[in-house]
Amino acid sequence: MTETMPRSAASERTVRPSQASVVETLDVAARIVAPTVAVGVVKRRPLMMALAERCQIDRAAIRLLQRLRERHGSRPLRLAVPGRTIVLLLSPDDVGRVLAESPEPFTPDTVEKHAALGKFQPHGSLISRGRPRRERRRFNEAVLETHRPLHHLSGPMLVRIGEECDRLAAETEDAGGLDWRRFERAWWRIVRRVVFGDGAADDRTVIDLLDALRRSANWAYLTPTRARAREALAERLREHLDRAEDGTLAAAVAREAPDPLVDPADQVAHWLFAFDAAGMALMRTLALLAVNRGHRHVARCELGASDPDSPEELPYLRACVLESLRLWPTTPLLLRDGVTETRWGPETLPEGTSFLVYTPLFNRDGERLPFADRFTPGIWTDGTAEADPSITPFSGGPACCPGRNLVLFTVTSALARLLRREEYRLASGQPLYTGRPEPATLDPFSLSFNTTAI
Ligand code: HEM
Repeated sequence: MTETMPRSAASERTVRPSQASVVETLDVAARIVAPTVAVGVVKRRPLMMALAERCQIDRAAIRLLQRLRERHGSRPLRLAVPGRTIVLLLSPDDVGRVLAESPEPFTPDTVEKHAALGKFQPHGSLISRGRPRRERRRFNEAVLETHRPLHHLSGPMLVRIGEECDRLAAETEDAGGLDWRRFERAWWRIVRRVVFGDGAADDRTVIDLLDALRRSANWAYLTPTRARAREALAERLREHLDRAEDGTLAAAVAREAPDPLVDPADQVAHWLFAFDAAGMALMRTLALLAVNRGHRHVARCELGASDPDSPEELPYLRACVLESLRLWPTTPLLLRDGVTETRWGPETLPEGTSFLVYTPLFNRDGERLPFADRFTPGIWTDGTAEADPSITPFSGGPACCPGRNLVLFTVTSALARLLRREEYRLASGQPLYTGRPEPATLDPFSLSFNTTAI
């Protein structure tokens, strides 16, 4: 029989799908899913982050996936979950494929993400499909100017970033140091002024409202929708957007005249949520530069050759920020759901399959990357990172982060301003040392620095 069978049909019969055992699936649940959920998927929980750092949870997760890949090969690995098809992606090319073929057939609007983000941005682009998604994505790209390295409003943004960083540096000088709490207050003032303008600088309530909903979003569908809190947030966002202050994203929103399917307040709720991750990346980059003298020197040379009052890309400092995001990705799980049946070599995965990409594996894969655990900003300027479809702190393909350039500009400019004002020495004792492998997990909330004015 087999001799007469066409070659492809024969291989379909002989190649067995990669299937994790029940024990392996429980291991994935215990070492990857549970810790990721415990630290807070939508709003990080500081106590759990501290614990995660102590246990270096990402290290155990990466090792587990490397073992599974050794045992099963690098094809998508089906987990033993009754009633659902959930696969883990283990090869960079498969990650590249899923991202390149988003939003169809691989939609970012997955069951879990919809339940979680729907708590504070029910009409957000990331949790939409079809025409609503196209319009919302288009709106985001237009306002955030996805394809421009520097936003046309980067001039007025830089002024606001500079003022807030100078204020922070002055406070830091008085206190003799910088910690997360002090940084966080300044960071949200920057974000509110960049997004809405000076009229929102002191409006902590808007972030408090968002945070309360994000904490509830951590539980996805396990907590009820808080309709009143959501409406209160949307109303406050609309008030700030309606002022459309000059030189802010709110002004850019007002110019857009969006399609009725786009609720700008929902898109802006996502922006504020995402700026939180950017603050974490900034503090981690500061820590990397505080302990790596050589890299700090190169960054300072770049600053020395640039004009502090004109918006610039600052490629080296930007690469340092990207490198902190590679080492400690702020989106550890990228999720996609298949909206149709899909072919994977000899296998066919059914419609509704959930695809899981655990990003620390791809960013820190010591079996594949010579620089896996080292702070190596050069990979972002010499094409190495770009050539790897799975090193994607901002995701990739048509559903990649449309705020990438804007947020990199904001973080890099703030870092530049702080570094021009002060020297930072790590005071909080995390195991970061020049030339040593970086820790797999780094809690940004417990970072603190001693500072000296320059
Ligand atoms: C360091 C900061 C940030 C990182 C690492 C980051 C990363 C990402 C990632 C990984 C995704 C894809 C998520 C997924 O597929 O599930 C995403 C989507 C998105 N990001 Fe960001 N982001 C950041 C900041 C921002 C900021 C500040 C904005 C807006 C001002 C923004 C706007 C968006 C939007 C609108 C989407 C949804 C895209 C879509 O629906 O196609 N992000 N981001």
